[in-house]
Amino acid sequence: MTRTVYLNGDYLPETEAKVSIFDRGFLMADGVYEVTSVLDGKLVDFEGHAVRLQRSLTELDMELPLTRDELLDIHRELVRVNEVVDGGVYLQITRGAPADRDFVFPDPKETPCTVVLFTQSKPGITESAAAKTGIKVISIDDMRWGRRDIKTVQLLYPSMGKMMAKAAGCDDAWMVEDGFVTEGTSNNAYIVKNGKIITRGLSNDILHGITRAAVLRFAAEAQMEVVERNFTIEEAQNADEAFITSATMFVNAVVEIDGHKIGDGTPGPVSARLREIYLDESRKAAI
Ligand code: PDD
Repeated sequence: MTRTVYLNGDYLPETEAKVSIFDRGFLMADGVYEVTSVLDGKLVDFEGHAVRLQRSLTELDMELPLTRDELLDIHRELVRVNEVVDGGVYLQITRGAPADRDFVFPDPKETPCTVVLFTQSKPGITESAAAKTGIKVISIDDMRWGRRDIKTVQLLYPSMGKMMAKAAGCDDAWMVEDGFVTEGTSNNAYIVKNGKIITRGLSNDILHGITRAAVLRFAAEAQMEVVERNFTIEEAQNADEAFITSATMFVNAVVEIDGHKIGDGTPGPVSARLREIYLDESRKAAI
């Protein structure tokens, strides 16, 4: 089935959606994005993603060219026409396509933003092999820029990190800065020790994950102790459990770090419980 995608006000077959070679997303990675997961044909945590999108745009002096309700309608329409049951909606907004390449931002009145949305169908996403067995990660230096709280489309280093993990026979990489884990290449990172859930606090160093916020809320509601502080790879290797969260992986156990097994090398009870609570609650609240 040819996907229907959204581009600047139009719903088009994916093969007909074209963006200018002068688009600043293409030339300068001057754009932001969001990935909202879809479960049972409904959007998970749309509100959180809409709020973070607005924040990313504001930080980059860009204006959201659509209202929150228009955004929601576009998400829903794409899910409907593409018959997505499980998967996600990708949204990207760039600073548009000026007449020529220039480092200086174009006047937004003359150069409207480019808005792209498309769906990704992933049937059975909640029953993935990664969820059952857990994933293996390697550690790499965090070489990204200093505003990781803004969800920009500058994904070259995270992409290289995934390739380094793949070359090492692993699934992903945790990035380390000044001796402490920042986050995964496309997810937030956690460890569990003596029942305590430990994860780095929010700052410009990491993306403020929407799944993270939900999972920490559910953990507190379930009387689980959460500590927001830095941790090292060594501490993670000696933890009882480790896991990641993201809109595409939900809560997923990490069972090996740099070749060192975590616990008995299988997904532990805390991450399994959080995954179950997260999926149950997300399904209930999805719109
Ligand atoms: N990535 N940290 C980074 C660097 C991320 O790229 C992501 C999400 C997260 C988790 O955020 P959230 O819970 O809001 O998905 C943390 C998306 C899924 C992606 O790039 O595909």
